[in-house]
Amino acid sequence: MSTASPLEQVPTLSSDLTRVEEQLLVAVQTDNALLQDIAAHLISAGGKRVRPGFCITSAAAASADFAPAEHEVILGAVAVELVHQGSLYHDDVMDSATTRRTVESVNSKWGNHQAILAGDFLLGRASEIAASLGVDVAALLASTISQLCDGQIRELEYTYRTDRTEESYLKSIDGKTASLLAAACRIGGIVGGLDEERIDHLTTFGRAYGMAFQVVDDILDLTATDEELGKPAGNDMIEGVYTLPVIRAMAHGEVGADLKQLLGRPIDTTARDEARELVKQSGGLKSAHADARRYANQANDALRSFADTAGGTALKAAADHLVDKVENLIV
Ligand code: IPE
Ligand code: IPE
Ligand code: MG
Ligand code: MG
Repeated sequence: MSTASPLEQVPTLSSDLTRVEEQLLVAVQTDNALLQDIAAHLISAGGKRVRPGFCITSAAAASADFAPAEHEVILGAVAVELVHQGSLYHDDVMDSATTRRTVESVNSKWGNHQAILAGDFLLGRASEIAASLGVDVAALLASTISQLCDGQIRELEYTYRTDRTEESYLKSIDGKTASLLAAACRIGGIVGGLDEERIDHLTTFGRAYGMAFQVVDDILDLTATDEELGKPAGNDMIEGVYTLPVIRAMAHGEVGADLKQLLGRPIDTTARDEARELVKQSGGLKSAHADARRYANQANDALRSFADTAGGTALKAAADHLVDKVENLIV
């Protein structure tokens, strides 16, 4: 699994993220030992902490130099990471995942019911922290949780459907991924005291970055190895989740017709490998890659007015890092 942070050039970030780690563990404390164990499982497993990093860096988009983040900014970062992790607990139940962040997934280790309840617990604790940061942050986090559910339901609606449209795919990833990255940046901007216009630009950045990020994740599912991902590769097609490269491939003449024949139902790993090959032949990966690049460029455009700020420069480097990552992967 790649643990490299796309924000590694931010000098104060690693000590800020250490504070985030401490506060994440504080946030899941309860006198219920089993619940605490389950809720802490993915915190200890690591992760790139992209959302906390974006929250902290967005707060730094007001000034020319980096400084250690205010405590409230750290709490904003903790709230978004808890929502992210809660959604991963639920996602792994829905995707029947056995591995997450290179460790056994919560559903696999403790069971589906436990994963659902512990996921809800994480969302509850995130909401408490958001409420302590004011009405605007609380309302934003709440509406983001609703958008996550909207995106995930849209995905379920089209599971195993070879007629899944690009529009439905884009709406789904906007809800399930981009909305939380947008919220991470927006919360950083609000708690960091930026003006309304700048907060809106940061939100636009986060949303566009989130779209690029999910398209990249979906490309990687088709191109990377299990080891690179920290979870089984090629799982999306097995689970009936047809992502942008696959949707594009299905629309591609004869190869597309063969692919449609193969998909539309649960498949084994042999059929999955065959399907992956067809997607490659169709040019679907290359064409999805162009979209990822377009979203990353949109993300950069949203940062135009931040060129001479510490946070703005770091966020721009993060968007460039994402484009490079996918650029290097497709042959
Ligand atoms: C995984 O997000 C879920 C998606 C939105 C694709 P990350 O890739 O940020 O996962 P962690 O937090 O590093 O584990
Ligand atoms: C991740 O979605 C969960 C959310 C974005 C809420 P996916 O199912 O696409 O991502 P992975 O591959 O499990 O990380
Ligand atoms: Mg999943
Ligand atoms: Mg999923």
